[in-house]
Amino acid sequence: MKGVILAGGLGTRLHPLTKITNKHLLPIYDQPMIYYPLRTLVEAGINDILLVTGGNNAGDFLKLLGNGKEFGLKHLNYTYQEGEGGIAEALGLAEYFSEGDSVIVILGDNIIEKSIKIAVENFKQQGDGAKILLKEVEDPQRFGVAELDGEKVVNIVEKPKQPKSNLIVIGVYMYDSEVFNIIKTLKPSERAELEITDVNNHYIQDNKMTFEVLDGWWTDAGTFESLYRANSLAASGN
Ligand code: DAU
Repeated sequence: MKGVILAGGLGTRLHPLTKITNKHLLPIYDQPMIYYPLRTLVEAGINDILLVTGGNNAGDFLKLLGNGKEFGLKHLNYTYQEGEGGIAEALGLAEYFSEGDSVIVILGDNIIEKSIKIAVENFKQQGDGAKILLKEVEDPQRFGVAELDGEKVVNIVEKPKQPKSNLIVIGVYMYDSEVFNIIKTLKPSERAELEITDVNNHYIQDNKMTFEVLDGWWTDAGTFESLYRANSLAASGN
């Protein structure tokens, strides 16, 4: 199983902090943001990893991470996203790298307290289809919100004004190799992006989506409020 970290986008919600650097290089307490998702993947047993980045500071990732030696990796792969056409577009750039294998994708601004290793092992057992991780939050309207019917996710709505639950889809996604064909069928959303939520709904409609609820704290870090929250959670450890 291959790993993909998405660290493209322009991070405009964090201007002026992101005017001269990439969001994922900003500090979360005592480490650059990108260290957290990278460590999450490595800890889950993923060691063939592609980092997708973009913007003006792509070279800084190479300077910072090199071949990932600090994380116990032998090599690290990089690719470049022009513009910010969305999470699904950024993932589409990983097709050549995946070589028909399944992939685990993590968003570069997602900070996770605990291990996701068991979920990854469960997905490997599952064999095909997709798996998402859900988390209960107080502000679901900022995220992709899951609608459940018993033990099944029946729909995901991206940033709904009136969320149907408090369970949101965090930025960790596991897919079989079919994901790259699905991405090719997507149309840009109202925010002119190829949405990962559309990919996930595709798997739901095909009855091939499973989910687990994440244990421990989780936050994104793409707004001033969540960046601050990420810093305090990382500093206090709880
Ligand atoms: O954090 C979880 C949420 O992430 C999910 O609940 C949502 O369903 C999902 O759409 C996403 O929501 P955001 O609107 O918060 O995503 P954002 O645009 O902030 O992008 C998150 C990361 O994805 C960003 O840190 C880098 C990567 N990305 C994003 C875009 C738009 C790319 O690599 N390329 C892109 O073009």
